Amino acid sequence: MALSMKIVEVRHPLIRHKLGLMRRAGISTKEFRELAAEVASLLTYEATKDLETIQAQIEGWAGPVHVEQIKGKKITIVPILRAGLGMLPGVLELIPSAKVSVVGLQRDEQTLQPIAYYEKLTGRMDERIALIVDPMLATAGTLVATVEMLKAAGCRRIKGLFLVAAPEGLKHVEATHPDIEIYTAAIDERLNEHGYILPGLGDAGDKIFGTK
Ligand code: PRP
Ligand code: URA
Repeated sequence: MALSMKIVEVRHPLIRHKLGLMRRAGISTKEFRELAAEVASLLTYEATKDLETIQAQIEGWAGPVHVEQIKGKKITIVPILRAGLGMLPGVLELIPSAKVSVVGLQRDEQTLQPIAYYEKLTGRMDERIALIVDPMLATAGTLVATVEMLKAAGCRRIKGLFLVAAPEGLKHVEATHPDIEIYTAAIDERLNEHGYILPGLGDAGDKIFGTK
C-alpha cells in the first residue's frame, strides 16, 4: 500500500506479542483492558519521538545543571468515546500532565456514518499537539469527523494512535487529511461487509467495557 502521508506501523516485538494476545476469542474484559493500555503506552513512546525540547537551567543536587524540557504548551490527548477511553490510561502513564479533550462519536451500524454527541476540548488548541486515541480505524469516518472538530478549534498538529487500522480507512484519511500522522500497532487485511476489520479485534468498545 503506497501512501504519501506519515503512517507508522509500530512493529515492536512487545506490541506484536501483546496485540496477538488481544486477538484471542474469549479474552476477558480485564485482560483486554490491560493490554489496550499497555499497547497505547508503547505507541505513545513512538509517536512522541519527534517532540522538540528546549534547554533549561535548574538547581540540581550539586548546583546548577542544564536539562531538557518538552517545548511548548502541554499536549492534549483526545480519546474518542467510548472505546478510546481504554487507551487513555496508557497514554497518561507516559504523559501524566497532558490535558484531555474528550469527543464522543458513535458509528451508525447501518450507514457506518459517525454521529457526534459530545465535544469538550481544552483551551489554546492552536498551540498544542493533539494525540487522538481510538483502538480501531475502520472506514475512518470517526477519525475524519474528529480531525475536523480539532481543526475547527484551531489545532494544527494532529497525530492518531490506533491498535488496528484497515487499509480502506488509511486511504480515506490520506484523501481527506494527509497532514496528520497515524501510529498503529497493526495494519490489517480489510473490512468485512459490516465495516469490521479483519482479522481485527472484534468490537473493541464492547471488549473494553464488558458489554454484550
Ligand atoms: C468504533 C471505534 C471507532 C469507530 C471506527 O467505535 O472505537 O471509534 O468504531 O469505525 P470507523 O473508522 O468506521 O468510523 P463505535 O462507533 O463502535 O463506538 P464505541 O466506541 O462507543 O463502541
Ligand atoms: N469498530 C470496532 O470496534 N471494531 C471494528 O472492527 C470496526 C469498528
